[in-house]
Formats: sequence, structure tokens, C-alpha cells
Amino acid sequence: MDAYDLIPKLIRASFDSDRKTIEAVSLAIIKRIKKDYPDAAGEIAKTLSFSGAGAPMVRSIDMQPLPVDRESRYSLVKLDEPYEIPDPILDDYTMTQLNDFFKERDMINTFLEEGITPPNSILLDGQPGVGKTYIARWISYRLNIPLITLDLASSISSYLGRSGQNIKNIFDYAKSQNAVLFLDELDAIAKRRDDASDLGELKRLVNVLLKELELCPSSCVIIGATNHPELLDKAIWRRFDRSLTVSMPAEIERKNLILRHLDKYVPRLKQDTLLYLTKHAGSINAADICKLCEHIKRQCILNPEMQLDLIALSELYKVITYTSKDEKIQICQMLKRDFNNLSQRDISQITNIPLTSVTRYLTANSRIKEGK
Ligand SMILES: Nc1ncnc2c1ncn2[C@@H]1O[C@H](COP(=O)(O)OP(=O)(O)OP(=O)(O)O)[C@@H](O)[C@H]1O
Ligand SMILES: [Mg+2]
Repeated sequence: MDAYDLIPKLIRASFDSDRKTIEAVSLAIIKRIKKDYPDAAGEIAKTLSFSGAGAPMVRSIDMQPLPVDRESRYSLVKLDEPYEIPDPILDDYTMTQLNDFFKERDMINTFLEEGITPPNSILLDGQPGVGKTYIARWISYRLNIPLITLDLASSISSYLGRSGQNIKNIFDYAKSQNAVLFLDELDAIAKRRDDASDLGELKRLVNVLLKELELCPSSCVIIGATNHPELLDKAIWRRFDRSLTVSMPAEIERKNLILRHLDKYVPRLKQDTLLYLTKHAGSINAADICKLCEHIKRQCILNPEMQLDLIALSELYKVITYTSKDEKIQICQMLKRDFNNLSQRDISQITNIPLTSVTRYLTANSRIKEGK
């Protein structure tokens, strides 16, 4: 039997969520393709190893079973295999810092021979949706080691009382693996400090965290992330080798995000519209720009008769808030000037500006022109 013949069986098993058959068929595929396609066979084997967060699979690739909360038996962390994702779109400085980190990780042995401590931690801060979690995933991919994620916001609230021991277990686990430990929403520890009832426990927790961060060997990479850098203990900042502020995307990054996410739709877009999108998406974060592009593509398929520029602009105006009346006037005038066939009603629909206002703005415009 050829590997191709097994594909329908694999697809059926996937739809039935029949893990046992998926594993059996995948193993059979590996056997059949490993001679001719060793890379693909290796990748399937790796996927099998990681996908079973259940103990046997994790053990089969030398990953110990994930640490669990003693009472609830819930997994304390999430494990993801490294997988390829495009580079994050960031300003030059942040990108250089991250690339320097990779270079230094490559030189670990040289550093150790020279008695220099190699870097193993980065603290990322920045507003929501700027790509902190994405960067952690990308680091896991670039270093080709699994990502262990601990979301402190959810774990502290559910395990308060046992958090100190749980955090210790998580660090013990991460230390025993060659992995990236991602401490997401690190401020969750600090945020609750004003809550008197939890104060003792949180102090203990911060101390455990500080100690564990300090004891972490260089084989283990720690990435912390926070949206509230001002809430973080100074002592926690000091434990990280590098701290990087991930900024809201500037014009060039916005353009690159739009180009990447609109992809093959870009040639159908007027240059002016692209410029306009880039300029006016200034108030939204990278994650929302990606979402905006997805909405544009979906609308484009739903309304094939509609001009892509108009779809793009109308989706844009659904997510941005106008900063001033002048801006609204400018937008209405631009639409009237650049898209000949648009009625005032169309402009109102695209911009979400009431029709009466659109009429006023455009009449005012014609008066200005007439006055010239
Ligand atoms: N700088 C970026 N480059 C490329 N894609 C990005 C970037 N920032 C965000 N994205 C996209 O937006 C998605 C959501 O971003 P992400 O979850 O990483 O943001 P975050 O900073 O972790 O937000 P939060 O603080 O809410 O956790 C990512 O999965 C990615 O697709
Ligand atoms: Mg995040």
C-alpha cells in the first residue's frame, strides 16, 4: 500500500477526532515515506511526539509529562512544538536586539568557555496586540525548541494558595527541558498586590519567581511579557538580560503588515488607497491591522462586484475612530474626488458618517472651490 492510499483514512480519522487511528496511520505513513522523503517523515514524527501532550507521546521525545496542579490535576502550562512562522514586523531597533539575542545563543559554548554568562532571558513590554506572544512563538521557532507557556493571569487566580509550589514545579520542568519558558502577563503577580487578602501569598510568589529566575540555567530561555510595565517589581526587571519595548507599528511597519496580509490582493489596490490605509491605521495595533486585512479579503470574496479600494476603506472606517471633524471632511472630499461614481449615500455608508453630515461636508467643499 502506498502512502497516498492512507491519506483518506487519515482525513476520516481527523474528522472523527480518532487520535488512535491518526497516530497509527501517521506511523504507517512515516514508514512508507522515510526513505524518499526523510524531512517530511521527520516532521510527522515530531508532530506526533508533540501533539500527544498525554504522557506517552511526550516521553517518546524525552519531554517529561507536563507539570499539573496537585489538587485540580489541571496542566499548569501549555506546550507547543516549534513551528515556522514569518518574522514579526517590528522597528529596526527591536529586530536588531532580537537578532543579537539569537547570535548570542549560537555562541553559548564560546561564552561559557570564556567564563561569560550567556544571555537567556528577555522581558517584552508593550500595549495589547503589538506581537509579544507572537515574538515568543517566533523565538521558539528560531531556536528550534518547544515553547512552554505559563499564563500568570489565569493561573494565579485559580491556584492562589498553591501558586508558589506550582511556579517552582513549572521552573523545575522548564529547567529539565531544552525549551523556551514564556511567562505571559507577568504583571498579574504585581497587579494584585493591593488586594490585602492576597498580599502575603503574592509576596511569597514574587520571591519564588525572583529566586527561580535567578537560578535558571542558560540552557533554558525565559521570555516574559507584560502590558503593564509600570506594575512590575524592579527586582523582576533586573532578573532579565534584556528588556524590550514592543511599540505600536509605525507607518513603515503598518505598510508591511498590510502588504503581507493582503498579499495577492495588493496589486488590485490603488497606490493611494494603500497609502491611505497605512496612514489612517495609525491608531490601531498590529493584531487589529492583521484582522482588518482578513475582513477586507473576506468582503472581497463576498462582494466580487465591488471595487477593492472601496471595500478596504469601508472596513478601515469601521475600526478607526475619527480624530476630528476636519479629518471627516477630508475623507469625504477624498472619496468624492478619487471615486467618481460615488453618491453621497455611498460615501456615508463607507465612512459610517451620517448622510446629512456628508452632504454638509461636500457642499461646504464645493463652496470653497467655487469661492476660489
Ligand atoms: N509585530 C507583529 N508582526 C507580525 N504580526 C503581528 C505583530 N503583532 C501582532 N501580530 C499578529 O497579531 C496576532 C496577535 O498578536 P499577539 O497576541 O502576539 O499580541 P500581544 O502583544 O501578545 O497582545 P496581548 O498583550 O493582548 O497578549 C499575532 O498572532 C500576529 O498574527
Ligand atoms: Mg500576548
